[in-house]
Parts: sequence; C-alpha cells; structure tokens
Amino acid sequence: MIPADGSQPSAARIYACLLGSKDTHRADREAAETLVSAFPSVRDSCRANRGFLLRAVRDLAAAGITQFLDLGSGLPVHPNVHDLARETHPDARVVYVDNDPAVVSHSQAVVDGGGVVTVSGDLRDPEAVLGNADVRATLDFTRPLGVLAVGVLHFIPGDVHAVIATLRDALAPGSCLAATHACSDTMSEQELDLGKAVYAQTANPVHPRTRTEIHDLFDGFDILPPGIVFPADWRPAPDIELYPETAHEILAGVGRLPAR
Ligand SMILES: C[S@@+](CC[C@H](N)C(=O)[O-])C[C@H]1O[C@@H](n2cnc3c(N)ncnc32)[C@H](O)[C@@H]1O
Repeated sequence: MIPADGSQPSAARIYACLLGSKDTHRADREAAETLVSAFPSVRDSCRANRGFLLRAVRDLAAAGITQFLDLGSGLPVHPNVHDLARETHPDARVVYVDNDPAVVSHSQAVVDGGGVVTVSGDLRDPEAVLGNADVRATLDFTRPLGVLAVGVLHFIPGDVHAVIATLRDALAPGSCLAATHACSDTMSEQELDLGKAVYAQTANPVHPRTRTEIHDLFDGFDILPPGIVFPADWRPAPDIELYPETAHEILAGVGRLPAR
C-alpha cells in the first residue's frame, strides 16, 4: 500500500491517486477528490504530465541514453522510468530521487535492485544530490545521462534556474534534460488562484512560472523538436498512449547538452 503519514496530503500521494493507482489509502483518494472538485482539470494535467515522462524516457533510451537521474520521482506507478528505459536497454541504470521520506522508503521497497536505486534528496540542494554516494556509484557522469525533472520544478520556490544550472554543469555532452512545469501564462487567473490555494494546503505549495521562465530552464541545452509544448503535444505516440489526456496548465520539453 502507498504509505500515508497521517497528516497533510502530499503531492506524491495525490498524484498517484490521480494517475489511477489502485494501491492507495482512502484518505489519499479523498484528498485527490477534494483537489479535483476545486480544480477539475488537475487530473488531466497530472496524467498528461506522466504521459510526457514515459514518452520522453522511451525516446531518450532510443537515442542511446542508458542511465537516468529522476528528480522528484514520486511513488512508483507502473510503468515506471526503469520499465520504459529497460524496454530498450535491459541494463539501464536509474536513480530515483525524492525528498518525501514516505516516497523514498516505499520506492526502495518496491523498485530498488539491479541498477535501480532510490535515494533521499532535495532538489533545492542540487550539490548534495550530485554528491550522493549512491548516485555516484550508480551513474557514470562522464557519459550522457537523462535527467528527468518532471512535475517537480514548480514545487521549488526561488531560483530554480540556478538549480538546473548546477545540474547541467555536472553533465557530460549529449546528456538530456526532460522537464515539465506549471505555466502561469496558459492558465486563467481563476485557475491559477485555485491551483495555488489547493496546493497551499499540502506539503508542497506550487509556484507556476511564465512561459519565458520555463523556456529559460533549458538554458545551455539545445531544445529538441517539437520544442516547449503542452505535454500531450510532445511527440504523441499511440503505442504508449497510456495517458492520452490533454492539459494546458503545464509545459513540457526536452533539451540536449551540446559539446562544449
Ligand atoms: C507530482 S510528483 C511527480 C512524480 C514524477 N516525477 C512524475 O512526473 O510522474 C512530484 C514529486 O516531487 C517531489 N518533490 C517535491 N519537492 C521536491 C524537492 N524539493 N526535492 C525532491 N523532490 C521533491 C514530491 O515529493 C513528489 O514525489
């Protein structure tokens, strides 16, 4: 069962419920339903976000990426990042990073082993994530890496661009960043206020950013086609269309680090 800490709802548990995970507690489902009743499009938004994540991982694996650093990985929901990566590279290595202790312990129990590792880490301290012994033991930073920052950066207040820059500077050329972010330009004022108000009651207040600010997350990367778009518009692929929902609250993109 998905762990509950009995207090505030968390982004991770609400998200797992909205993805349709059956393995949830009643309290989580109630929190998710409360969120949906206040902000009906949040379910589609989360599902479209997950669909992008899976397609991006599959495409990066097809492009030769064999190792992934998944930041703000959330609770395991099949198929996971390692499932998709291993369809192409059976030995793909994946590190899941999250700052929610309940997520970390559950993920360690459910997915860890054989080149898949879950570590506790906070994206607000990217140096610590990069210096984590398990991260270093699992991933080879001299080779291209797929860095996934999907559905998490809007939970980081302040200078999120500095966080990404720190990660980028640790990567080998050919590494890729796949990211999504809640966008204040594509939501109505009412949606923005509702979304912020609802997440303010969780452990993870949300900080939507403008289209330009989201574009700037990819500073130093070559943005791959089709660009920074709504998640459902990023390389739709019927064969893994597990989450076909469209949503306008989030933008998604993938960038590739050129040779220096
Ligand atoms: C909405 S879930 C996204 C899960 C997954 N990345 C996906 O897109 O399917 C967001 C996750 O980010 C985690 N998170 C929030 N703030 C974080 C931070 N500062 N450092 C690491 N993880 C964080 C939450 O605990 C949660 O598990």
